[in-house]
Amino acid sequence: MKPLFIVANWKANKTEPEAKEWLRKVSGIRQETRDKRKIIVCPPFILLPILKSLIINYKSLIKLGAQDISPFEEGAYTGEVSGRQIKEFADYVIIGHSERRRYFGEEENMILKKIEQSIRHDLIPIICISNLEQVKNLKLKIKNYIIAYEPLFAIGSGVADTPENAEKMAGEIKSKLGGVPVLYGGSVSAGNIHGFTSQEHIDGVLVGGGSLDPLEFAAIVKSS
Ligand code: PGA
Repeated sequence: MKPLFIVANWKANKTEPEAKEWLRKVSGIRQETRDKRKIIVCPPFILLPILKSLIINYKSLIKLGAQDISPFEEGAYTGEVSGRQIKEFADYVIIGHSERRRYFGEEENMILKKIEQSIRHDLIPIICISNLEQVKNLKLKIKNYIIAYEPLFAIGSGVADTPENAEKMAGEIKSKLGGVPVLYGGSVSAGNIHGFTSQEHIDGVLVGGGSLDPLEFAAIVKSS
């Protein structure tokens, strides 16, 4: 089996006790599958420190990611979290998620600044796009990054894209950007994950709703 990224995007969910419980339950399954799958959990910023210390305690191989990053270096930017701060706890950062584009008006310029900050602070960006136009606008000069293809209709709807269409998109993204890993995201479940991860050009998944329940997430990992 090829290496796979399985990224859990918790969005604005979970308190500290819930996060601890989740990690306790999920860290067990991680050990059995350590060489094939890279599990990356992206909690809200405030949960990064506790999850980092628990991951160390459990000797878990789960990696951490943030869900966003400031487009600025640290300084007088109320409410922002800078790349330097994130790097203390995480190795990855989701950038340009369609919910950021839709509810917070993020556009290409802002997304490019965030990508720049992530690279400057040695964080691997997981750049979300929902169509090929957004790929064209990226104009990246960087090497180490991941693309997540997430069609809008599939996010949180319970209706995933077809594996064939996601594979076609992943192939087109790779032909434009080179050998970058491409993930599929949008209503991934234990029932449909294998259809995606068995495709030649799909290197993993980004899971929202299905990542919140630890047992459901464990089933998603096992079925990949
Ligand atoms: P979903 O979300 O799995 O709940 O559809 C995916 C995402 O928004 O990354």
